[in-house]
Amino acid sequence: MVKASAPGKLMLFGEHAVVYGRPCIVTAVNHRMSVSIDKRNDENIIVNAPEMNVRDYKISIDNLNGKHPRETAFVLTAAKNFFDKYGRESGLDIKTHSEFSSKFGFGSSSAVTVSTIKALSELFGAKISKKELFDISYKTVLDVQRVGSGFDVASAIYGRTLYFIKGGKTIEEIKIKEIPIIVGYTGVKADTSTLVKRVSEKLEAENEKISNIFDKIGNIVIQSKEKIRKSKWSEAGFLMNENQKYLEMLEVSSPELDRLIASSNKNGAYGSKLSGAGGGDCMIALASKENTAIVSAAIEKAGGTIIYVGTNVEGVRIEEG
Ligand code: MEV
Repeated sequence: MVKASAPGKLMLFGEHAVVYGRPCIVTAVNHRMSVSIDKRNDENIIVNAPEMNVRDYKISIDNLNGKHPRETAFVLTAAKNFFDKYGRESGLDIKTHSEFSSKFGFGSSSAVTVSTIKALSELFGAKISKKELFDISYKTVLDVQRVGSGFDVASAIYGRTLYFIKGGKTIEEIKIKEIPIIVGYTGVKADTSTLVKRVSEKLEAENEKISNIFDKIGNIVIQSKEKIRKSKWSEAGFLMNENQKYLEMLEVSSPELDRLIASSNKNGAYGSKLSGAGGGDCMIALASKENTAIVSAAIEKAGGTIIYVGTNVEGVRIEEG
């Protein structure tokens, strides 16, 4: 039996624009997703994913090519893509375990995809590089959900804090120790694909204006990279507010996000913004150590729930035992 785990992620800067080739910055968080895999002596793949209410879902290897229920799609498509590329077909027992709820938008699909492929490569002794792991995992995510820049896949593999360009064109670690971040959950579950589609429709309708916004966001990301590298958090916070303005122009913020962000900024945060696709899920804020408690309380008072996460953590790894 082999067990692999991968971290969830938080987008710090550059969401949406990254889908159109501009850079983004993402940090890996210490809420991990793990996948245990063992070989079986028959032709079946059995999936257990208790956090998704999946119990003993059974499919034969011959049917891996078909369409799968959403709850098992990432794991099964990952297995299919692994077998297609590396051969060694076998029946499998697959069990997933999540340390975080998928409702927060921390990227459970990418973490489970990466963990599955990592565990399979270890189980079958296939030596694959991080970039190969990225390519096959990114293909899997696109096969299932069609859209995405791959930043969450890169984060699950490489961990830490990355400067990233779509499709893994650039994956560069920003070397830092910690990020003084506060995460507030709105209580509203957002659907990434719907929001990505909304932005693509806007781009189609108002090409020049929206491309211009993407360029502005791309610029903010480039500046933020330097601020983060030098731990200039108050300046990074200013850039978060700038990034948020452009996200509002893309109409991906929401009243709940706006409320938490305003309250956080009014109570001493260096800056705040939504994180991820928007429409709900989480907002993030940067604040000094002295202000952390006040800002957190302000976010809660505005209706948010503080989620305690460690950032800048290790990427995918094989777990012992
Ligand atoms: C979603 O978490 C972030 C987006 O930029 C989509 C993506 O990059 O795949 C909206």
